[in-house]
Amino acid sequence: MKAYYSLLLLFAAARGAFATFQDDCAVLATTFDYQDAEVLLSTYVTAGTNLTFPESASNTCPKFIVTLADMCRLRLNHTTTSTSSVIMEAFLPVNWASSGKRFLMTGNGGLGGCLAYNDMVMGAKLGFATIGHDNGHAGDTGAPFLNRPEVIADFVWRALYQAGKVGKAAVNHFYSGIGIRKSYYMGCSTGGRQGMKAAQEFPGEYDGILSAAPAIGSIGLGAIDAKAYFTFGPPGSPTHLTLQQWNRVHQMVIDQCDGIDGVLDGVLEDPMKCQPRPEALLCGPGQNWASHQCLASQQVNSVRQFYEPVYGNGGKLITPRMQPLTREFLGYPLIYGGIPSRFAQHWYRYALYSDPNWDLATDFTLDVVDDDLRDVYGLDTYKTDLSDQQGNNTKVLMYHGLTDGLISSENSYKYYDDVSRAMGLKSDELDEFFRFFPVSGLDHCSTGDGAWYVGGPLQFTTPGALERAGDSALMSMVKWVEDGIAPETLKGRKIVNGAVVSERNHCRYPRKNKYKGSGDPNLASSWECSSEQV
Ligand SMILES: *[C@@H]1O[C@H](CO)[C@@H](O)[C@H](O)[C@H]1NC(C)=O
Ligand SMILES: *[C@@H]1O[C@H](CO)[C@@H](O)[C@H](O)[C@H]1NC(C)=O
Ligand SMILES: *[C@@H]1O[C@H](CO)[C@@H](O)[C@H](O)[C@H]1NC(C)=O
Repeated sequence: MKAYYSLLLLFAAARGAFATFQDDCAVLATTFDYQDAEVLLSTYVTAGTNLTFPESASNTCPKFIVTLADMCRLRLNHTTTSTSSVIMEAFLPVNWASSGKRFLMTGNGGLGGCLAYNDMVMGAKLGFATIGHDNGHAGDTGAPFLNRPEVIADFVWRALYQAGKVGKAAVNHFYSGIGIRKSYYMGCSTGGRQGMKAAQEFPGEYDGILSAAPAIGSIGLGAIDAKAYFTFGPPGSPTHLTLQQWNRVHQMVIDQCDGIDGVLDGVLEDPMKCQPRPEALLCGPGQNWASHQCLASQQVNSVRQFYEPVYGNGGKLITPRMQPLTREFLGYPLIYGGIPSRFAQHWYRYALYSDPNWDLATDFTLDVVDDDLRDVYGLDTYKTDLSDQQGNNTKVLMYHGLTDGLISSENSYKYYDDVSRAMGLKSDELDEFFRFFPVSGLDHCSTGDGAWYVGGPLQFTTPGALERAGDSALMSMVKWVEDGIAPETLKGRKIVNGAVVSERNHCRYPRKNKYKGSGDPNLASSWECSSEQV
């Protein structure tokens, strides 16, 4: 009888706590009071709910997402200045307190503009109170930058900074009396750049930052895009390559460089050592593409130029080369397929020159990227003195796919080395707070020919990802921050239809993965990290 009553009481208490969670969520509009933040919506949603976003009907942002956790969904409009505002959401899971009391900020992509709903549902599923925001404007477009410097400032840094402040206040308010224990950030591409912005400019805000394929040195990245346009020209130009011809170049790079890491598996562990010789593809007398899958000398010339760095006026290095073995099906339509890259075009047109008629095809000169004023808004995100980060004990885990077709991975190698020299720290000292993992066989953020799945931003939607969250890059960072166990390698998996077909532990730079000489190359145990150049 006694046991029955206590069971009943327990049940009532649990039910009461649960009702409180739902009620607390419903009334956030009246209870959460933060300067310049207006609650637009707060509702309790269960796992498996299909959330739809009618406000994204006219832009490129996600139209729906299926949730994975029981949680409170909070949507806010935060006014950043009299002419700018940020839409943000918090996914506040029921099991937050028992899951480590962690805060997770997510990043944006491209010229976005879009909340990272995929990363947010995964974050909430893993128990993080997870925030997403629109970076100050709706959609993957730079058009809203035109004559609106405050919208540009939100895009470059402020939306992230403010959404972090408002988000933390909301989380601490909602789970009243508990308090955030650790704060994290994760993002890829533009999201990777945002993570590095936080590391460089407001490191005290996060304990751990996971930055993938960061679009840092952004001004130089614009130069690579422009160079690609002028090098290859529109389809039909004698300098242009079709996508099929790029696939041939891809195979050529593999043929010439695959053996450098000790095994022929179509995956390059160290593309920095690869110096492809496109002349191998030159047509002989009487040959052409149709007859022999060979290239004309003007095309070979284009390929050779593409794999060289961009230098500005006076020989100044603007940006490293595109790494060989780009993922062409990604890069081709956006960068070297013969239309000016939208990223560069929009930034120059709407932000830098405030001229809707500015056209990369006719108006770009090297002065655009060489000018000292080129980084008026701070988009470059390339500060190499990370002493504030070091002082705040913030850990940064950066990784970059070695077949990234949009942002050259050599950019990330260069940044790590530039920081090392600027701070006078050898890699083992730098690695106390900043680690870089080149990830072979990973394209831009997600998918690839190698062990591309590491459990980072934009990757969790792959089938089987959640079951493998334990040794994900995200949770490796948590372990580093909370247990002091720094990651030596990033666990990589090639996942096809939910099944793991190969594994490789990606080494932290400057170590490199080397095949041991025997054993199945699809097994991580057949490889080891060299201590070369440490
Ligand atoms: C979610 O709802 C949208 C809009 O009604 C629909 O297009 C989409 O297919 C739904 N998704 C799922 C997984 O049910
Ligand atoms: C957000 O607030 C700004 C004013 O700061 C307003 O112009 C905008 O329309 C609001 N957006 C929404 C979706 O309420
Ligand atoms: C922590 O970072 C802030 C900037 O966010 C900086 O002002 C401060 O000096 C840093 N603290 C240390 C101990 O380096």
